[in-house]
Formats: sequence, C-alpha cells, structure tokens
Amino acid sequence: MTTAIGIDIGGTGIKGARVDLTSGELISERVKYPTPEGGHPGDVLDVVEHILSDLGGSPEDHTGVCFPAVVTHGVTRSAANVSADWIDFPAAETFAHTLNRDIHFVNDADAAGVAEAQFGAAVGAPGLTIMLTLGTGIGSAFLLDGTLVPNTELGHLELDGFDSEQRASNAAREREGLDFAAWSLRLTRYLRHVERIFSPDLFIIGGGISTQHEEFFPLIDISTPLKPAALFNNAGIVGAAYLAGNSLLD
Ligand code: BGC
Repeated sequence: MTTAIGIDIGGTGIKGARVDLTSGELISERVKYPTPEGGHPGDVLDVVEHILSDLGGSPEDHTGVCFPAVVTHGVTRSAANVSADWIDFPAAETFAHTLNRDIHFVNDADAAGVAEAQFGAAVGAPGLTIMLTLGTGIGSAFLLDGTLVPNTELGHLELDGFDSEQRASNAAREREGLDFAAWSLRLTRYLRHVERIFSPDLFIIGGGISTQHEEFFPLIDISTPLKPAALFNNAGIVGAAYLAGNSLLD
C-alpha cells in the first residue's frame, strides 16, 4: 500500500493523518491541535513536529503540508488571515530542515481540490471545475480535466469594492449574523461574477458549512451546476498527502 502523511494548517487548528493514496482514506487517527496564538511559523512548525511524532513513521514518509496562502516552489507568498511572517517565507525548506524529511508545501484550497478530483465530488469531471472553500476566507482550486492549476486565489477577486471573501465567506456570514437567504444573495452575486469570468463546467463548494448545503444551495441562483465537497474535513489532509506522494507541483 502506498501511503503519505498529510498536514492541514488552518487559522484555528492544525491536523494531520496518514493517508492511503490509492483509496484516499485516512489509515491512522486524525491528530489535531489548536493553532498557536499569532500563528508564527516557528510555533506552527513545533506543532507540526508534534503531530508527526504522534503519527509515528520515518523521514522516508512522503509528507505534504497545506496552508492558507499562495505557495510557489515551497515559498509562502501571502498572508490574508495568518501572521505576516509567512510572506516570502521559505516554508518547505525550513520545515524540511527541522523535520528531517522532504516536505511538499501547497495552498490549502488547492490540496482540497486535488483530493476532490482524485477521490471526491470531481472524480472524472470534464472541463473546468472550480472548487471554492467557504471558511474564514474563500479558497479556490482550478481543475482542468482533473489537473490542478495552482494559486488562483478567487477569494480576493474584487467585487462591489470589496475583497470577495470579506462579504461572501462563512466567517462574513457569522460575523454579520446573516441568515441563509441573505448570505445566498451574496454567494449568488459572487458565483455569477466567477461564472462570467471563467465559464466553469462545475462548482464544488467546500468548507465546514458545505455540510449544510441542502439549506442554502437551493437559494443560489446561477447557471453552473453546484455540488457539495465529498471529503468535508479531510480534503486538505488527503490532498496534501496525495500531492506529496505524486509530487505534481515540484
Ligand atoms: C487565502 C487563500 C486560502 C483561503 C482559504 C484566503 O484568504 O488567500 O490562500 O486558500 O483563504 O483558506
């Protein structure tokens, strides 16, 4: 069995597990710790080290880490909802040095999109699938006939004078106390904008709130088919592990 370890670093929690790369299933417990206050790279790295020691294994394990920022060639380039210390931070190299193993570092939504394309809601989807994760921010993954085009950052499309994620993320819904009807109007406005620019064949909506899709999908008025993510909480872990195992972005 080919396996790899996936770690998903988020604004509130850092989680990891060992993944079977053939089935996309977790084959260890899912270890989770809170993200340290401030989310500085060194503190986050300490937690990741802890998770790897909890999971056991060896330096030969393929290990993928996903993170909420633009990531090019292992360097984190942005910091929308995390510490500014991550801007232009050589994350893969620093993590590899401390953790004594190769590290594959990717954007969190890209990891989730790859997981959905390999094992979830976008398996075999032809043409352009756009996955959007609605959480603290909005993450995006472009999958063209199943192949990832990384770092698309559609959460930061400017719309009506705002960064889109400020108005349409799940955090915005919670912050402003919007009911599903009011939030769905914003999602419709946002998704229509994305539709107009990219003409996707399919949208996949992820993030914790996607488990409540039956309540808000019917209120979204767009032409493109809309599907909820299938891997829910584990998509980042599975996609990071899969990309590490296959090293698609090296
Ligand atoms: C970040 C993206 C990330 C998304 C979801 C955005 O604010 O810019 O890189 O994928 O949040 O976490």
